[in-house]
Amino acid sequence: MSFENLAGVQGDPSAKGSGNAATDKFKHEAVKSDTSKERANAIYTDLLAAIAEVAHKHQITYDEYRVLKNWMIQVGEYGEWPLWLDVFVEHEIEKINYDRHNYTGTKGSIEGPYYVENAPELPWNGEMPMREQDKAATPLIFKGQVTDVDGNGLAGATIELWHADEEGYYSQFAPGIPEWNLRGTIVTNENGEYEIKTLQPAPYQIPSDGPTGWFIDSYGGHPWRPAHLHLKVKNPGYREITTQLYFQGGDYTDNDVATAVKPELLLDPQTDDQGNNVVNYGFALDKED
Ligand code: DHB
Ligand code: FE
Repeated sequence: MSFENLAGVQGDPSAKGSGNAATDKFKHEAVKSDTSKERANAIYTDLLAAIAEVAHKHQITYDEYRVLKNWMIQVGEYGEWPLWLDVFVEHEIEKINYDRHNYTGTKGSIEGPYYVENAPELPWNGEMPMREQDKAATPLIFKGQVTDVDGNGLAGATIELWHADEEGYYSQFAPGIPEWNLRGTIVTNENGEYEIKTLQPAPYQIPSDGPTGWFIDSYGGHPWRPAHLHLKVKNPGYREITTQLYFQGGDYTDNDVATAVKPELLLDPQTDDQGNNVVNYGFALDKED
């Protein structure tokens, strides 16, 4: 493993720009947990034991240790901790916190680093905010119903939708994109139904010109995620769902760098006679427990 290019990559706007934007956003979130000293002690003890086991198993050299230290410093300087953690760790945390309950509703997936709250509400049957250049992509008409787990429609539920543009950039995390581009909040009608027009997203490459990219290169991996829509679905009294939807047969659905695809989350849009991709997806919300 070597990161000889450490000095040369400084100044590239992409990894550093989106990394620092994600870090700045995260720093403004109120982050706290009520972890007891006993629990912290148990976690710390097991964590150090796991690190020791790996270090011994692979007979880690001093050069490797120094490269790791240098890399971790760079991850911080590039602001890439939210990116790296959400790609390599979040999916396990998501699974643990789903499996702990007896949920039967729609499966969750990782939030990732690019959610922004309070996206503007869009009119029923409306269109996601997008630029002229975004309209070169195939339109995607995304519709369906939000229900409880028994199939009863939930009126007034909200669906927050956000996704990348054709080039893989998220508004507010890359320069030059209107603030709420490809972000919106949809409210279900009296039957719990929703319908929105957006564009068919493309596979997404996580910023690969910074420390997360060097990390992936170092073990011969790839930086791609399958094309995806991000969603948060909320209705008072019900479990809030943070999830993603993917496209059946799309590239990287079976080797997502972030390990966040589940079979229940694959869409299969059909083309209508105007050339739109059209897809129905039902969200089932569990009661809050
Ligand atoms: C990352 C980006 C995403 O769009 C996503 O869905 C998950 C992770 C990332 O760069 O870390
Ligand atoms: Fe994403």
